[in-house]
Amino acid sequence: MRPLTVAVPKGRVLDKLSPLLGRAGIDTVPLFADDRKLIRETSAGMRFLLLKPDDVPTYVEYGAADLGVSGRDVLLERRYDLYQPLDLGIGRCRMVVAGLEGARAPAVPRVGTKYPRVATEHFASRGVHAEVIFLQSSVELAPLVGLADLIVDIVETGGTLRDNGLVIREEICPISSVVIANRAAFKLRRGEIDPLLAALRSAVATSQEQQSG
Ligand code: PRP
Repeated sequence: MRPLTVAVPKGRVLDKLSPLLGRAGIDTVPLFADDRKLIRETSAGMRFLLLKPDDVPTYVEYGAADLGVSGRDVLLERRYDLYQPLDLGIGRCRMVVAGLEGARAPAVPRVGTKYPRVATEHFASRGVHAEVIFLQSSVELAPLVGLADLIVDIVETGGTLRDNGLVIREEICPISSVVIANRAAFKLRRGEIDPLLAALRSAVATSQEQQSG
């Protein structure tokens, strides 16, 4: 059988994830090796796949990875057939509707967003027909140059909104990073996955106790 394979996001989340993995007894040294390898093997025979955050759930859903770590924002937008056994409490932010301070949105607002499905469903749930425009990044720019009346995006510190004269109009939901599991692997590899999840669960609890104390 192939080694237990865990898909992890490169970048910001990995910096927050690696202390949790370390605390759970997982060898994180290979994650930071100074090369361009996309598969990293640990001393205990586990494999990490280093991926762009948006691709992690795809690898796990199709079984190319058994487990993964993904933001709830990605999972909400693209609805995968996966288990979500553990909230890691990292990468915390909020999905919000924001707009220019003092500006009124029209009856049919144009909404710029990386999350068209989340945005469409949010406005539909309010009985508002919105024209949703898909943008890949720097979404906060859209209201400043007349491309959109509102945006739907994630906010962490609020700094990007503030620096661009935007304010939060509505909170849609909280976001954090969660462990995701392939449905078949979750059943067939319980012997390996259960102890790993238990160690991670206790690492999350310890780190949250330290933050609140
Ligand atoms: C994210 C998000 C906001 C910003 C929020 O963008 O889309 O733009 O972070 O963070 P803040 O509230 O702490 O300012 P990211 O940095 O991932 O870049 P992007 O615009 O290229 O998506």
